[in-house]
Amino acid sequence: MPSASPEHVNAGAGPAPDDASAPDASPASDDPRGPAAAAHPRHIRSFVMRRGHLSDAQRDAHASLLPRYAVPDGDGPIDFAALFGRRAPVVLEIGFGMGHTTAEIAAARPDTDFLGIEVYTPGVGSLVRALEARGLANVRVIQRDAVEVLRERIAPGSLAGVHVYFPDPWPKARHHKRRLVQPPFVAELAARLASGGYLHCATDWAPYAEQMLEVLSAEPRLANTADGYAPRPDWRPLTKFERRGLRLGHGVWDLMFVRRPVTEETPA
Ligand SMILES: C[S@@+](CC[C@H](N)C(=O)[O-])C[C@H]1O[C@@H](n2cnc3c(N)ncnc32)[C@H](O)[C@@H]1O
Repeated sequence: MPSASPEHVNAGAGPAPDDASAPDASPASDDPRGPAAAAHPRHIRSFVMRRGHLSDAQRDAHASLLPRYAVPDGDGPIDFAALFGRRAPVVLEIGFGMGHTTAEIAAARPDTDFLGIEVYTPGVGSLVRALEARGLANVRVIQRDAVEVLRERIAPGSLAGVHVYFPDPWPKARHHKRRLVQPPFVAELAARLASGGYLHCATDWAPYAEQMLEVLSAEPRLANTADGYAPRPDWRPLTKFERRGLRLGHGVWDLMFVRRPVTEETPA
């Protein structure tokens, strides 16, 4: 879980090493992602690959269980009905961390399918382990940069919801460009929501909450469901970190926006 404190950011989730402001650009011909990647110039990453501690259980789960829950590699939009073996609303979660919230919500909402994206190997191992232990069949996982997945594999208008919980706050001004919730990415997210679909964000970092409110309010495809910040919906469980923060008097801000119907004024 993230913390509102810069100390935490430097220690783990969303590390902010001083070289993090280096441009992530490399000539397309040198791109280690292969020739297809040349069509998409490198973007500024919202994460830094961290090793973290990989427990034996997470390593074993990652090796033996991920193939069961992973979305097969491929080109073009994912066929959700084929992936989940049924037609149900699909909610995308970006940056599920250790996946505790993901598993909790998926268990509470069996009629919805969830696609979780995370780059952190211990977190992916932890989530697939929880899915197996709880017998949850309504979650699939992609271990890759969500910005690329969204662009390449999620069809416009195909999502019933998007969860972005406690994204790395990148508190230093020179790292703000790494924050996920920025106008271009929010526009891409909104375009992938079905009409009436929701975008739910939460953060415990006040300046990021303000940025989220400003950016989401300015996106023409989205409408705020609340007058400013929203109450936490019952189905978003409090995380361990969040409980501790609340006990210490820290704030948590939820934002709940919905996709407006497509009209002449609101683009598809
Ligand atoms: C501060 S943690 C929060 C984790 C979790 N949502 C929670 O509330 O406990 C943010 C997570 O987002 C992941 N992340 C950041 N940018 C990402 C991206 N572009 N694609 C996938 N995962 C990303 C990080 O690896 C990290 O685990």
